[in-house]
Amino acid sequence: RTARFTIDPAFTVGEVDPRLFGSFVEHLGRCVYTGVFEPGHPSADEAGLRTDVLELVRELGVTAVRYPGGNFVSGYRWEDSVGPVDERPRRLDLAWRSTESNRFGLSEYIDFLRKVGPQAEPMMAVNLGTRGVAEALELQEYANHPSGTARSDLRVAHGDKDPFGIKMWCLGNEMDGPWQTGHKTAEEYGRLAAETARAMRQIEPDLELVACGSSSQGMETFAEWESTVLQETYDLVDYISLHAYYEPQDGDIDSFLASAVDMESFIDNVVATCDHVGARLKSKKKINLSFDEWNVWYMSGWHAIENSGARDWAEAPRLLEDVYSVTDAVVFGSLLIALLRHADRVTVACLAQLVNVIAPIMTEPGGPAWRQTTFFPFAQASRYGRGEVLDVRVDSPTYGTKRYGEADLLHATAVRADDGTVTVFAVNRDRTQPLPLEVVLNGLALTSVVEHSVIADADPDARNTLDDPERVTPHQATGTALRDGRLTAVLEPLSWNVIRLA
Ligand code: AHR
Repeated sequence: RTARFTIDPAFTVGEVDPRLFGSFVEHLGRCVYTGVFEPGHPSADEAGLRTDVLELVRELGVTAVRYPGGNFVSGYRWEDSVGPVDERPRRLDLAWRSTESNRFGLSEYIDFLRKVGPQAEPMMAVNLGTRGVAEALELQEYANHPSGTARSDLRVAHGDKDPFGIKMWCLGNEMDGPWQTGHKTAEEYGRLAAETARAMRQIEPDLELVACGSSSQGMETFAEWESTVLQETYDLVDYISLHAYYEPQDGDIDSFLASAVDMESFIDNVVATCDHVGARLKSKKKINLSFDEWNVWYMSGWHAIENSGARDWAEAPRLLEDVYSVTDAVVFGSLLIALLRHADRVTVACLAQLVNVIAPIMTEPGGPAWRQTTFFPFAQASRYGRGEVLDVRVDSPTYGTKRYGEADLLHATAVRADDGTVTVFAVNRDRTQPLPLEVVLNGLALTSVVEHSVIADADPDARNTLDDPERVTPHQATGTALRDGRLTAVLEPLSWNVIRLA
């Protein structure tokens, strides 16, 4: 009962794009307010940004940061979010039935990214729900044009002399979802996305544009939606988006642990659809995938609140503040493995979201910031998952799941860095038994195990909380060895593993 695979530098999947480690800041609950931004907090800088959060964001290794939504963007009026703070209007946010104060806006977002550091880059969404081509162009002119026009001079007058240089833009959000303000059919959205893309490229031809794909693989319109939208936009966009959230259904943890089976099939199906449209259009161009919302999300809990009528236009209410367990971290790690295993076509991905809202980082207003269990797999994957993904085909014992049939107990990938070192990322889905692992290393001059870091716990429900913020952290495994080109390890039951080889 051993899981095995072979790695060989001659067999690769593709180069990891740093944007695979993106995240997402939406005006939702406390992601922005009392999350990244809290004037008056003991750690706040002169702009009101929480420096304790900034430090954790850097440690997390986040790259592209999608903004300002999410569902929020479909009612977003960008001009409300710029200029003197005291003059910014308060607005109803229909998506989350909250009140938006606009104290944090476009300029503050760019300031936040610049303070995170050079690895952070903007990924801005335009509103194609209640708005259209004209407003997208005005926002682009305000953000990116150097000066000498009405909108660019307004930015300069607002104190931002340098253009924001936003290269990557999302053309709306989840426009296939009936919950979306300004929801559209695939035909309606495809046309609007195409016209918006065409016009935005008239200002800057080299933008990178993301068309909305489906909100999940389970949508009734899935695949047909992608096909119709791409038929309209194929030559005008670079990416199609995918969104997926996972939670245990009816307490079925075994299926939950195999969530990546769904994620990988979703990716394969979108790739097939993109390439089918490309073939139909006789195009040589490939559309890549932007998995710009993914996570574990206890969405059924949220729907119960949503349907209770309890939300009453509060400002920065506590919404979607899921507290993640060890089990969640293992599933989350497996989702990261799924993304890496498809690095040839998934070149952008955004963990939804960054702070407080289904997030790896939590904060208390006026109080501390801390790492959720999911923080660690993300930080490790961002740090060590850079380079070339090796083609890993596991030979693993399996287990039965209700949703996905027989699933491998081992889920794994391996990434070879530019300096030749290799990191194996692996999950053992077995809830009770350790899983022996053997990896044959072909053509790799590796001789030692640098570390074998693990997230696992006798209590799979253990979580980090305000009262016990370091209850769950990675620990080192013992007994992992590399001899004569063969790695041997034992993966603890229900565990996330990072094995670094040099
Ligand atoms: O990330 C939370 C929400 O999930 C986003 O606003 C929306 O795009 C998705 O449905």
